[in-house]
Amino acid sequence: MGPRYLNSDQIPIRFVSHIMVRPSDSVKRVTENDSPLDSLHEWEDDLLRRYPEPQESPSAEESHTFRDYDEGTRPGVREFYRLNHRYQTVDFVRSMRAKYLPLQQQRMGIWEAIEKLNALTDDSDPDTELPQIVHAVQTAEAIRADGHPDWFVLTGLIHDLGKVLCLFGEPQWAVVGDTFPVGCAFSDKIVLAEFFTDNPDTQFPEYQTTCGIYEEHCGLENVLMSWGHDEYLYHVVKDYLPIEALVMIRYHSFYPAHREGEYQHLMNAHDQELFDWVRCFNPYDLYTKVDHPPDLDRLLPWYQDLVSRYFPDELAW
Ligand SMILES: [Fe+2]
Ligand SMILES: [Fe+2]
Repeated sequence: MGPRYLNSDQIPIRFVSHIMVRPSDSVKRVTENDSPLDSLHEWEDDLLRRYPEPQESPSAEESHTFRDYDEGTRPGVREFYRLNHRYQTVDFVRSMRAKYLPLQQQRMGIWEAIEKLNALTDDSDPDTELPQIVHAVQTAEAIRADGHPDWFVLTGLIHDLGKVLCLFGEPQWAVVGDTFPVGCAFSDKIVLAEFFTDNPDTQFPEYQTTCGIYEEHCGLENVLMSWGHDEYLYHVVKDYLPIEALVMIRYHSFYPAHREGEYQHLMNAHDQELFDWVRCFNPYDLYTKVDHPPDLDRLLPWYQDLVSRYFPDELAW
């Protein structure tokens, strides 16, 4: 069951859905400096520019290299990565894990989390706004259309729910963005890796060797990843889904590994095997944004049943 791509009649759209925090009493806004992206989706749109759908690549000459990437990066995206690479340190990751992994923020069901994410909408361009549930259902429907098992379809539906971290007041750079290990040398294949020179961890020699604070092939389970929506959701749902689903959730933004082949020295044989699932999932996440939204009224009962078969009414977040 290798990666397969959607039918070509489903037209990918690049910049259709945007998400940002709507001002409201119930939502703590992050400061302007912390939020250089117009929306969280601007990061994902930029991923599409960096990793275009294979059949859309017109020629090898036009394929995106990191050099090309740097030249065409939007200022907000550059600033986003500058903050991300500056502030994702071992200490920061440990502090976020201490804050969130007791899962004591609130109790809510999967649908409540989806609804809350829908409240994160783009008020700058309402005509092209698509709520988060559209990306969730489009991803899930593409997985279902390819005949994958129901837990894989469910994974497509929920994979981004960790973005509720925004609702808890976290800045964009601590919610989205490509993820990477901290506590060891930063790969130069990480997007805009030059910004790591501002990361205080580069001052600690023990964090800057190839394996850093880890044993070679120790397994990703033992590695501290930069903090974001992947790691958080993994902990929220880890008692309810098979390991293949969990690894897709936990590492779907780990582009330096699943797209660039980096950090093999930290992975063990089990990780290598499981990463086939991460690579299988990635095209459904990146290439299923289409401009004819799914018929939610027709589909939601099926998804409600699916969610209730795997999850309790409430989970600890
Ligand atoms: Fe994601
Ligand atoms: Fe996604």
